[in-house]
Amino acid sequence: MLIHRGKFTLKRENSTHTAGFCILHAAPEQLTQQINLLHPEERSYYETLKFDRRRESYLLGRISAKKAIGALSSFEDLGKIAIGAGIFQFPVVKYAVTRNLQVSITHCDGLGIALSYPEVHPLGIDLERTDKANTEAIKEQLTADELALTGTVPLPGDVTCTMIWTMKEALSKILRTGLTMDLKLLEIQSLAKEGDLYTSHFKHLIQYRAISCYAGAHVCSIVVPGKTTPDLDQFWQFFRETVSR
Ligand SMILES: CC(C)(COP(=O)(O)OP(=O)(O)OC[C@H]1O[C@@H](n2cnc3c(N)ncnc32)[C@H](O)[C@@H]1OP(=O)(O)O)[C@@H](O)C(=O)NCCC(=O)NCCS
Repeated sequence: MLIHRGKFTLKRENSTHTAGFCILHAAPEQLTQQINLLHPEERSYYETLKFDRRRESYLLGRISAKKAIGALSSFEDLGKIAIGAGIFQFPVVKYAVTRNLQVSITHCDGLGIALSYPEVHPLGIDLERTDKANTEAIKEQLTADELALTGTVPLPGDVTCTMIWTMKEALSKILRTGLTMDLKLLEIQSLAKEGDLYTSHFKHLIQYRAISCYAGAHVCSIVVPGKTTPDLDQFWQFFRETVSR
């Protein structure tokens, strides 16, 4: 099992906030060894899950989210925190001593990544494997302007399509709606290469911007308020290390 966790700052003009992260790569049997981290409410829900894949993704999400909370507040007893689900399936942190922390969760291919953040400063995260087989389906969901943007950065087309998709999914998590909306509302306005990363602004949700990293066979996007400068260097370094193994 590989676990990276840490903190990062979110600098704004008149305030600075701190967020936590956890990047977890684990096999199903390693996850079940950590089951004591589940709150009894979570354990009861877990026991209702029938499919191995969902049991695995649930543990990846809950364990990484708790460790992301633990990265911010080492005195928390993580087994006493319950992460429930809101009416649109968004995660809701309950019973934490450190109040007003929330989490954003993503899981894929034995990887669970979670961000913990103060509720006053929302964040969203999404992770996808770049899979040529999915590219046509993603393309059908992108707008003509987004498709045009895919040709403007030095990445294979299937990677760029997946990247835009993760940006939109991460934004939909901040909105707490998921993709249950007209996807055009999540449209990106721009796509630029900045060093090893890619950034986008959104056409309609102008308060937010996305930062993406492509490494190994995966793309990860984090959406932050547009005027926030996040110090994500360590996060991206751990992300690259984990997916490139
Ligand atoms: C929410 C959604 C964007 C998740 O993206 P994904 O690539 O499928 O999955 P990820 O692993 O990246 O993210 C899953 C996590 O997102 C979080 N999530 C789910 N719904 C969310 C919402 N409305 N807002 C914020 N976060 C949400 C959950 O924490 C979930 O993990 P968990 O169920 O283990 O707690 C996407 O599934 C969606 O929009 N779903 C709504 C449409 C729908 O319900 N389709 C039917 C699915 S069976």
